[in-house]
Amino acid sequence: MTDVLTPVLTDNWDQDRAWTLAAYERQGGYASLDKAFAMTPDDVIAAVKESGLRGRGGAGFPTGMKWGFIPQDNPKPKYLVVNADESEPGTCKDIPLMLATPHTLVEGVIVSSYAIRANRAFIYVRGEVLHVVRRLQKAVEEAYAAGHLGTNIHGSGYDLDLVVHAGAGAYICGEETALLEGLEGRRGQPRLRPPFPAVAGLYASPTVINNVESIASVPSIIDRGAAWFAGMGTEKSQGYGIFSLSGHVTTPGQFEAPLGITLRELIELAGGIREGHELKFWTPGGSSTPLLTPEHLDVPLDFEAVGAAGSMLGTRALQIFDETTCVVRAVLRWTEFYKHESCGKCTPCREGTWWLVQTLARLEKGQGSEADLDLLLDQCDNILGRSFCALGDGATSPISSSIKYFRDEYLAHLTHGGCPFDPAASTVFSPTSSPVGARA
Ligand SMILES: Cc1cc2nc3c(=O)[nH]c(=O)nc-3n(C[C@H](O)[C@H](O)[C@H](O)COP(=O)(O)O)c2cc1C
Ligand code: SF4
Repeated sequence: MTDVLTPVLTDNWDQDRAWTLAAYERQGGYASLDKAFAMTPDDVIAAVKESGLRGRGGAGFPTGMKWGFIPQDNPKPKYLVVNADESEPGTCKDIPLMLATPHTLVEGVIVSSYAIRANRAFIYVRGEVLHVVRRLQKAVEEAYAAGHLGTNIHGSGYDLDLVVHAGAGAYICGEETALLEGLEGRRGQPRLRPPFPAVAGLYASPTVINNVESIASVPSIIDRGAAWFAGMGTEKSQGYGIFSLSGHVTTPGQFEAPLGITLRELIELAGGIREGHELKFWTPGGSSTPLLTPEHLDVPLDFEAVGAAGSMLGTRALQIFDETTCVVRAVLRWTEFYKHESCGKCTPCREGTWWLVQTLARLEKGQGSEADLDLLLDQCDNILGRSFCALGDGATSPISSSIKYFRDEYLAHLTHGGCPFDPAASTVFSPTSSPVGARA
């Protein structure tokens, strides 16, 4: 078996009651606070810059650079907001992290808030995951009682209050400016930029918004050093990350490894594709990242290489599909999700996602014509780059990539008059043979 795992954030997930303060401190938790307080805030920012940490929420923006944009001459309060809304189909790293060791995130919040000179921080967590909300609330309560939060933390003179805010359940509220709207009590819809949140974010004040995993990685950088972190990964994608494998692998789960690991290695760690089956297609970073195929098994999973392969690293949500999956049906399901979650603010996405579902549903039932494939691509073209936020762009990714790699399978739905798969008989569509085993 490949021996490449680097458990840092996941290191204590299997400890007895790992979510409690006692268990966390037994493993050396909160050790980074005194180290950070012995540094100036600017030195903490410099260390995070030096580490090469890039945002783990999808876009990969350098975290230290983002912190450096906070104008320190602005007299308004500064805020740190943690994006814990995790709702992208396939993405499942932040919720397990907050469930297993919420104190890792709380410790990261304290160090990061100190660096940007914020005295109030928020964790915006997906409201549906009530068990995670409760666990975070309990962790924050414990941290206050232990003197890790509140006034004059560890005698440093630094004060910080941390609020856990439960969102009302909308995928769009993971988009950072829609999240700020939600946090301010308004309907969650993206804001026009500029001004960027670093200048006018929460309550029109300078605000840093970072993903859970980005913030949770900060204590390890302060504790073990920027060079240690930068020593992992690849040249431009440094450090480690949590890779979530779901779908048709023997043992799905979270695997923490340096960026640059390949899907071939991760599948080996997950016990292989389920017995008797083979890989058909996969997403590298959730449903809004273009699909890849077995020919991409050896692509290093870093921001650059996945981009060069025609997709995006995104949130490292590796959804694995074997040959029993109808790609048209899978893409239709995702598109229905985007149609449902479109916030309605802009026309290309609000109307376009509706039309995508109509066209795809027709094709999936074998009722369209080959011209519908061009129609679909045209609809994607009218959404991609023309929508107000990245939700619209993301909705087009599974469609255009699946037509690129599986055009024959779309056409087979037409020649067959419906889905050419028959799961009951385990017959499988092959682009080189006639589809068999029709579903009634
Ligand atoms: C529709 C949509 C949903 C998003 N959902 C999340 C999310 O759940 N969590 C997250 O961290 N980022 C999400 N993002 C990305 C955020 O807008 C933002 O880039 C991120 O929180 C920045 O943190 P990072 O720099 O630490 O990655 C989403 C973006 C879009 C367009
Ligand atoms: S792209 Fe979609 S989700 Fe984003 S603002 Fe437009 S309608 Fe709303």
